[in-house]
Amino acid sequence: MTRFSALLALCAGALTTNVVASPTVIRESLVTLPLARRLNATGVRNIVARDQARAKVLKTRGNVGNSKTGPIDDPLDDVVVSYTVDVKVGTPPITYTLIVDTGSSNTWVGANQSYVATNSSVDTGDSVFVEYGSGGFVGEEYTDTVAVGKLTIANQSIGGAYLAYGFSGVDGILGLGPTDLTNGTTSGGGTVPTVLDNAVTLGVVKEKTLGISFEPSTGDGTASNGELTFGGTDSTKFTGKLDYVPFTSTSPASEYVGIDQSITYGSGGQTILASTAGIVDTGTTLIMIASDAFSTYTKATGGTADKATGLLKITQEQYNNLQSLFFHIGKNTFELTPNAQIWPRALNTAIGGQDGNIYLVVADVGSNSGSGLDFINGFTFLQRFYHAVDYAGGRAGFATTSFTHASTN
Ligand SMILES: *[C@@H]1O[C@H](CO)[C@@H](O)[C@H](O)[C@H]1NC(C)=O
Ligand SMILES: *[C@@H]1O[C@H](CO)[C@@H](O)[C@H](O)[C@H]1NC(C)=O
Ligand SMILES: *[C@@H]1O[C@H](CO)[C@@H](O)[C@H](O)[C@H]1NC(C)=O
Ligand SMILES: *[C@@H]1O[C@H](CO)[C@@H](O)[C@H](O)[C@H]1NC(C)=O
Ligand SMILES: *[C@@H]1O[C@H](CO)[C@@H](O)[C@H](O)[C@H]1NC(C)=O
Repeated sequence: MTRFSALLALCAGALTTNVVASPTVIRESLVTLPLARRLNATGVRNIVARDQARAKVLKTRGNVGNSKTGPIDDPLDDVVVSYTVDVKVGTPPITYTLIVDTGSSNTWVGANQSYVATNSSVDTGDSVFVEYGSGGFVGEEYTDTVAVGKLTIANQSIGGAYLAYGFSGVDGILGLGPTDLTNGTTSGGGTVPTVLDNAVTLGVVKEKTLGISFEPSTGDGTASNGELTFGGTDSTKFTGKLDYVPFTSTSPASEYVGIDQSITYGSGGQTILASTAGIVDTGTTLIMIASDAFSTYTKATGGTADKATGLLKITQEQYNNLQSLFFHIGKNTFELTPNAQIWPRALNTAIGGQDGNIYLVVADVGSNSGSGLDFINGFTFLQRFYHAVDYAGGRAGFATTSFTHASTN
């Protein structure tokens, strides 16, 4: 990839104009919208390398836009699986399909369909640049009317990419992470309000809270099987109690939706990962754990590295003996069953694997524990547990769902 920073330097920055409108009188308790799970079987290859590249950038930047990691020399593989939402931008509105990402906070379009300026578009005069490790974009920052479900926000900051890489079959990202991640992403400097920020400022939702429901699905193509809630949580999507833990104070996990957790294996309680900081991230596919923890997990499961997919592969006999992984978060323990630890077998070939093989979704984050970001609970985790992010309260919630113990893979 070329030097984005050089491109950025060429763009003179005017003052940002992302001024938030005076509060409207409309008050809804919640805004709920469907998420689609997309799988692109042609985009492929090595989801482990993709997730590791993302993890590396997450760990080193702390702040997306101020990334000093430099340009990416090897553009990575496209996103194989992603959760997306349809967002309407402009007047008259144009529908864009955006990845739902709690690990980043800028909202932008143009990866496939270009951003089209309409009556409500205002060019801020700023350029915008975000690098994700698994992809990136550079573009112009606008304010525009953005509608997500029944939530309509005038003057939402939004990027219009003129160069994007690492994305296929999607138009961009709906950034749902902490606002500070936008700091320095535009040439104007400072932060830009996220869609969730504006929803709260406008009084459309009361709380700066997200509820995320992903469900396992084994079909190819696109399946509408998730739900995103702004302003609260949807108790019909989980079983039992939704319990919260405070965000971690350990950096760099604390820059994201960071928590402390430990992981044990089996009924004997073998420690895989001692209590440490990491993040929950809808933009990561796998469950990534520190290299030393991964080595312990590899021995415990008997898995062997599979070149084609990058994942651990186990035999049928090893699968029969596979035990649950236990995620200890706060006072609760969340059980990831053997079935939840394997990649959906119907989708083996979609990630470069072979029919009939059994692959594990737990992978190596790429560095030893003690990094301040020792695990990433990606969507293979979130397909089994409901997740809430309460930004105002500084806490993350988890609950079991009807899929926690289901055999879907
Ligand atoms: C959005 O900002 C523009 C100025 O950039 C202003 O004219 C317009 O009234 C604002 N819209 C709303 C709904 O506040
Ligand atoms: C917006 O612009 C288009 C032309 O591009 C025009 O047809 C339309 O009436 C304008 N107004 C609204 C509210 O869409
Ligand atoms: C799938 O990925 C390929 C390769 O990146 C891309 O050309 C194609 O448009 C994508 N198709 C869909 C349906 O997303
Ligand atoms: C990409 O955008 C074009 C329109 O610009 C659309 O026809 C096509 O279906 C889109 N591709 C995907 C994979 O969404
Ligand atoms: C944004 O980044 C600048 C420069 O790194 C820093 O001085 C400032 O405190 C940051 N602001 C926020 C809100 O994080």
